[in-house]
Amino acid sequence: MNKPVAGFSKLSKEEKINWIAKEYFSTPSQAIALLKNYWNSDEKIQKLHDEFIENTITNFYIPLGVAPNFLINGKYSTIPMAIEESSVVAAASKSAKFWSTRGGFKATVINTEKIGQVHFLYKGDVSKLELFFAQNKAKFFSDTESITKNMQKRGGGILDIVLQDKTNLLPNYYQLHATFETKDSMGANFINSCLEQFAKTLKEETQTYELFSQIEKDIAVIMSILSNYVPNCIVRAEVSCPVEELAEKHILNPQDFAERFVQAVQIAEVEPFRAVTHNKGIMNGVDAVVLATGNDFRAVEAGIHAYAAKSGQYSSLSHAKIENGVFTFWLEIPLALGTVGGLTTLHPLVKLSLEMLKNPSAKELMQFVAVAGLAQNFAALRSLTTTGIQDGHMKMHLNNILNQFEANDDERILIQKHFKAHAVSHSAVVDYIDNLRK
Ligand code: MEV
Repeated sequence: MNKPVAGFSKLSKEEKINWIAKEYFSTPSQAIALLKNYWNSDEKIQKLHDEFIENTITNFYIPLGVAPNFLINGKYSTIPMAIEESSVVAAASKSAKFWSTRGGFKATVINTEKIGQVHFLYKGDVSKLELFFAQNKAKFFSDTESITKNMQKRGGGILDIVLQDKTNLLPNYYQLHATFETKDSMGANFINSCLEQFAKTLKEETQTYELFSQIEKDIAVIMSILSNYVPNCIVRAEVSCPVEELAEKHILNPQDFAERFVQAVQIAEVEPFRAVTHNKGIMNGVDAVVLATGNDFRAVEAGIHAYAAKSGQYSSLSHAKIENGVFTFWLEIPLALGTVGGLTTLHPLVKLSLEMLKNPSAKELMQFVAVAGLAQNFAALRSLTTTGIQDGHMKMHLNNILNQFEANDDERILIQKHFKAHAVSHSAVVDYIDNLRK
């Protein structure tokens, strides 16, 4: 049985590693060596990573790849992608190349509004609360002036604050629902600081409001926090071309391909089991760029999936149509991203990724991310509706197995030749390697 540990966070990094190695590993020296093998030889870089989180013991690598040839709104870009899944970068690159000769991607930011809420309980008369809010609304703005000053200089700030009666959902439940413009920052700190000040103002002002009796003064703020659901922070990415221009190696009959493709999207629009996997393919592209550019992929994931379920049923984020002989494929997703602040100024590889994208504004980054999602979705649906997904996947899978077994160059040539003609499965490759090595 493992023992609990007291004061772990106070131990030095070496002491933490030693404790873990002794407590959890049969050969502690091997575990220690492995963890240290992933330390960065540049002490400054290592210290930076150590300090991102608590109890850091080593670094956990994820490859950073690039997908070139993305023609977006008439300009070429190379998109950085941090992801562990094979095929994703290859698929993005293929889509980029395919669409670069068919007009490229068009991307537009539709709006950029962020949201935050103060959740509170109030047991008094609703009309008195409404009057209190109307009379004190300006105070919520003036009390946050020191927080909003810099953001206002950059053209952002608090857009509006509204009182919302949520007592139909929970007894006595109300909100201050605030909307924000945070320009090039994701804005989490800014929004949360404003909200905590709203909560303070709410508590203070209710105490001295002469129309309130004690029960009304006993307002209870439960929490103040931004929402990661941003349905008014939307970006659209689109590709389109005449159906006959879709023709290429795997698309011999473009009309048939376009129809099957549209059908595949319609299935994801109406069928949640398929919609989840369909959207997962979109997130392969979205998350990889979000991660490479130092943004919060958990926030993005949560917000996008909530948006996919906004009608009450989980559905496809992308849509497709054929109209007057033109094939159009597009998606709209909510994205709260930043290109200043947070990891964007701290992580050297994030800085490099952003520089590769020519130091985009948050709006431009929204466009890159949405395009990567659409490209990924196009690649997946093109495979699924033509050759099937396993063809390409298994080629990459074979490569991973060869790496796992540390196959040498001669073995690789023989194995790859064999599996051109035979189906790839983990066991078939392992058996073949075993036989070769006998
Ligand atoms: C695999 O990571 C993603 C796909 O399953 C997406 C899809 O099915 O559309 C290929």
